[in-house]
Amino acid sequence: MMTKKILITGGAGFIGSHVVRRFVKSYPDYQIVNLDKLTYAGNLLNLTDIESAPNYEFVKGDIVDAAFIAELFRTAQFDAVIHLAAESHVDRSISNPMEFVMTNVIGTVNLLNAAKEQWKGDYAQKRFYHVSTDEVYGALGETGMFTETTAYDPHSPYSASKASSDHFVRAYHDTYGLDVVISNCSNNYGSHHFPEKLIPLAINNIKNNKAVPVYGKGENVRDWLWVEDHARAIDVIFHQAKAGETYNIGGHNEWKNIDLIKLLCKIMDEKLGRSAGTSEQLITYVTDRAGHDLRYAIDSSKLQEKLNWVPSLQFEEGLAKTVDWYLENEQWLDDVTSSNYQSYYETQYAER
Ligand code: NAD
Ligand code: DAU
Repeated sequence: MMTKKILITGGAGFIGSHVVRRFVKSYPDYQIVNLDKLTYAGNLLNLTDIESAPNYEFVKGDIVDAAFIAELFRTAQFDAVIHLAAESHVDRSISNPMEFVMTNVIGTVNLLNAAKEQWKGDYAQKRFYHVSTDEVYGALGETGMFTETTAYDPHSPYSASKASSDHFVRAYHDTYGLDVVISNCSNNYGSHHFPEKLIPLAINNIKNNKAVPVYGKGENVRDWLWVEDHARAIDVIFHQAKAGETYNIGGHNEWKNIDLIKLLCKIMDEKLGRSAGTSEQLITYVTDRAGHDLRYAIDSSKLQEKLNWVPSLQFEEGLAKTVDWYLENEQWLDDVTSSNYQSYYETQYAER
C-alpha cells in the first residue's frame, strides 16, 4: 500500500505524540496531519521538535463534530487514518461516562463514516487503523493471558467505550469492506505521559514529597510497555497487517502496582540523592477504584511471530530513563499541571 497523506488523530496526547514523531521522522515522503481537540490531555509542547517539519501539519478539531470531520476528509483527501484520539483515563470515565461515549464511540463512528464516504470505490488502497486497549478483554485471575481471540468483557465505562468502538470498526470492515486494522495494547509508560496515570503521577508526587496514592492493597497487576515500542509496533502493523486483522501488543512485563511503586521510589531516591527508603514513606493506601480489574497480561506472540516485532527495552532501564525525562523537563510538568490539574486532583483523591 502506497500511503501518502495520513491523518493521525490524538497526536498531541501521550502515545499519539510518539506515533506522530516516529512517522514524521521516518517517512519524509508521507504527509502527516495531526488532528487533535487539545483537551486537558493534549499538548502541542509534546511535538515542538517536529512542529516545523515540512511533512507535518496540525489541525485543531473535535472528532465528535461529524460535519467538520466529513469536510476535513473531503478537502484533505487522506490515504489512511491512524486513530488514537480518545478519552483515556479509567478514573475519569467513572465520574463522567458520557464524555467517553461521545469521543470514543461517536467520534470513532464519525471517522468511519467519513472514511467510508470519501474512500468509496477505492477501499483496497486505503487503510483505517484503530488503536485500542487490552482493557476490552476484561480482567484475568492469577494466570492466563489475553490473546486476539479472547472474548470481550469490559468492566469500566472507559473499556466499554473502547470495546464498542472496536466493534464498530470491525462492523465497517464486515459490512462495507473498509480496510481496517485494530491493535490492542497493554499499559504504556515513557515521556510525555500525563500525570493523572500511575507512573507519572507517582514520579510527580515523589518529586514534590507528596503522598503516593496506591489503590486498594496495591495487588493489581499491569503489563507495562515502553511507549516508543508501542509506536514502533503501530508502524509495523500499519504497513504489514492484512485488512481486517487484529494484533495484541504487550511487553511480557507484569508488575504488581505496589512492587512497581517501590521500584520507582528506589530509583527516585537514587536520582534525587535521598537516603534509601525515604520515598517509600510517601506510599499511602487509599480506597480502591470501583470495578478495579485485577490483572492484565498480553500474549503478543502473533505480532512477534508474524511481523517480527519484539519490545526493545528492559523495564528497569525504561523506568530510569522515564524518571530522567521528568526530572529534566520540569517546565513541561509545570505546564501540564497548571490550569485545572489541581482541582481534578483534589476532587479525585479527596473522595478516597
Ligand atoms: P491521551 O489521553 O494522552 O491522549 C488523547 C489525545 O486525544 C489528546 O491529545 C486529546 O486532546 C485528544 N482528544 C481527546 N478527545 C478528542 C476529540 N473529541 N477530538 C479530537 N481529539 C481528542 O491518551 P493516550 O494514553 O495517548 O492513548 C491514546 C490511545 O491509545 C487511546 O485510544 C487509548 O485508548 C489507547 N491506549 C492507551 C494506552 C495507555 O497505556 N495509555 C494503552 C493502550 C491503548
Ligand atoms: O491497559 C491499557 C490501559 O492502561 C489504557 O487503555 C488506558 O488508557 C491507560 O490509562 C491504562 O489504564 P490503567 O487504569 O491500567 O492505568 P492507570 O495508570 O490509571 O492505573 C494503573 C494501575 O495503578 C491501576 O491498577 C490503578 C492503579 N492506580 C492508579 C492511579 C492513577 C493507583 O494505585 N493509584 C493511582 O493514583
